[in-house]
Amino acid sequence: MKRVLSGMKPTGGLTLGNYIGALKPWVDTQYDGENFYMIADLHAISVPQDPTQLRATTYELAAAYIASGLDTDRNSFFIQSHIPAHSELSWLLTCQAKMGWLNRMTQFKDVAGKDSTSIGVGLFTYPALMAADILIYDTTHVPVGDDQKQHVELTRDIALSFNQQFGPVFVVPEPVIKKEGARIKSLRDGLKKMSKSDLSDASRINLEDSAELIADKIKRAKTDTGVMPDAVSGFDGRPEVQNLVEIMAILSDQSVEKILSAYAGAGFAPFKKDLADLVVSRIVPIGDKMKSLLQDQAYLRSILQKGCDQATPIANATVLRAKQAMGFVPGFVPGFVV
Ligand code: TYM
Repeated sequence: MKRVLSGMKPTGGLTLGNYIGALKPWVDTQYDGENFYMIADLHAISVPQDPTQLRATTYELAAAYIASGLDTDRNSFFIQSHIPAHSELSWLLTCQAKMGWLNRMTQFKDVAGKDSTSIGVGLFTYPALMAADILIYDTTHVPVGDDQKQHVELTRDIALSFNQQFGPVFVVPEPVIKKEGARIKSLRDGLKKMSKSDLSDASRINLEDSAELIADKIKRAKTDTGVMPDAVSGFDGRPEVQNLVEIMAILSDQSVEKILSAYAGAGFAPFKKDLADLVVSRIVPIGDKMKSLLQDQAYLRSILQKGCDQATPIANATVLRAKQAMGFVPGFVPGFVV
């Protein structure tokens, strides 16, 4: 059976990159299997968070999941910290993960920068928590953007090494990463990822941007001195143009070739105008829906509670299985088979 687990950090400011790399693929495949979508609040605190802000961005993320089109009857949504088994399995897996494996994680190096001595230890061990999130649900598929691929591969390494040592406890999951749109780039620099942490707001489209702001950001998006390429000339050395064309292709569910044949040889203005209309038509309704969902916190809480109730027994059973395999003395927990 296909079981999907994925999640996002509630650190605010969701971008078009989050939508194209994760939310849209989740929506597009939501009727295929059994799906768990988590709000990774324990991951958020791997860098300092303001408590008031964290509470608000956690609800915002729940609203974004639903507003993007995920069906609340078909998918389970929950807050990671509501299921303590994630933290417990995370410790078991932290002890299984090798320093050498974690030392290879490029995201840690990117976030920590050159001087990592003042960074919280959690930022370094974060991938073991992510492995716990995935393995705890016997997950088969993990749909993510390209920047999370290395973490899912580490999860596989941890699962394989654990299973080899203690027996077949974990399902070994597959990352699911789209060929196009797995790394949406900044609107100001086609070599950088579009990111909520970029200092320039003009570098990204936020899910809550107004139609006017989106149109303006796309109009001002960096291109180059050429014209729109054709399928033969392609994107060689033109990462900004490639990024914009890919965004249009994905949001309109058309191939890149089809887009290129429609605009080849023209200036950027008509293409950008059509792209702005398309992005506005896809993103503004999500932002509007988020705002209205956020008016009804009781409804959001009821959805999160339902998801927590669905996820908790599966998570608890996996932790018990792992502890039993590792030789922990059985506790007095219902369901623990001696
Ligand atoms: P986070 O919150 O950084 O990002 C959430 C998702 O959005 C994707 N993404 C992008 N995709 C394409 N282009 C971009 N510019 C872009 N920016 C972000 C990310 O790849 C991700 O899929 N560690 C995870 C959260 C997490 C998780 C998990 C994910 C915690 N546990 C278990 C999957 C399974 C994170 O920080 O994502």
